[in-house]
Amino acid sequence: MKVIGIETSCDETGVAIYDSDEGLIADLLFSQIELHQRYGGVVPEIASRDHIRKTLPMIHEALEKAGCTARDIDGIAYTAGPGLIGALLVGASIAKSLAIAWEIPALGIHHMEGHLLAANMAEQPPSYPFVALLVSGGHTQLMECRQQGDYQLLGESVDDAAGEAFDKVAKMLGLGYPGGPEIAKAAKDGDRNRFTFPRPMTNKPGLNFSFSGLKTFVLNTIYDLDHLERQDIADVACEFEDAVVDTIRIKCERALEHSGLNSLVIAGGVSANVHLRSVLDKMTRERGYQLFYPEAKLCTDNGAMIAYAGWQRLLAGQSESLDIHVRPRWPMDELESA
Ligand code: KG4
Ligand code: ZN
Repeated sequence: MKVIGIETSCDETGVAIYDSDEGLIADLLFSQIELHQRYGGVVPEIASRDHIRKTLPMIHEALEKAGCTARDIDGIAYTAGPGLIGALLVGASIAKSLAIAWEIPALGIHHMEGHLLAANMAEQPPSYPFVALLVSGGHTQLMECRQQGDYQLLGESVDDAAGEAFDKVAKMLGLGYPGGPEIAKAAKDGDRNRFTFPRPMTNKPGLNFSFSGLKTFVLNTIYDLDHLERQDIADVACEFEDAVVDTIRIKCERALEHSGLNSLVIAGGVSANVHLRSVLDKMTRERGYQLFYPEAKLCTDNGAMIAYAGWQRLLAGQSESLDIHVRPRWPMDELESA
């Protein structure tokens, strides 16, 4: 069975083909970063227009790369939400139109479920039930995952998502976008003992996160420094990364205790962070838990995770009507079981 996946929820156009026998047989990604860079963030209208330009040619290219034609495709999956409405509508309209033309089912995928299921494409996939930490530019959530589609929210950020905090702090430090990889790079030369930033909401019970106070704390530190030298940037980046990672580690440990489960799956753009992976690796090993994550290139937005999630839902006999409908806001615990 072959499923094509289309991701257009934000500033990356992703198109991939997942084959149930051979795995990923095409995986294309176009990042719009350069188009948005001079505005200091993603401009929704520019994003939609570029998805219109890129998606169809990338679908043709993916078919070519995979050595197949439209006739070989059994289903077409697209990101139906959450995300930017215009950007989502581009993927949804193209997917539904091709579903009509090719006479195959269309499957609207939840972007965060796509991130989560990317871990199943790894050599050692997790088995249900487990605790999932979803950390991206728009979400920071802890979920109890009982089976595919049966998710219960345990806690989430009450303000900024972790990735958003990385992006904003990078901007304050004069680093590029997206901020996560830039902070991680700068942090390598940092002195871990120079600053002490707060670990928000770790002294209170509960599984929610908050990163906006930490962001303000960093801003004040930068004001106090007045002029930023290269070493200052490295030291702030290093302690900021430590503070976010430490906070996440404490909440993950708490979620595992609270749920009584012993597997942790991390997914979403921030889960590519090497320091986060090594701290969670250490914690899970010491406490007798198991940690799972997708390979680094499948942590950030991509079409592969959408193709894979689509295949899982197609296997379960799901498909949807051909009217075009997207959900810019979409709580993941409202999904149906596969
Ligand atoms: O999952 P993703 O590609 O898009 C959303 O669904 O939001 O996540 C993007 C976010 C950005 O905020 C980016 O700065 C962050 O993930 N990110 C990282 C790293 N790579 C990407 N954050 C920390 N460390 C990284 N290595
Ligand atoms: Zn994402």
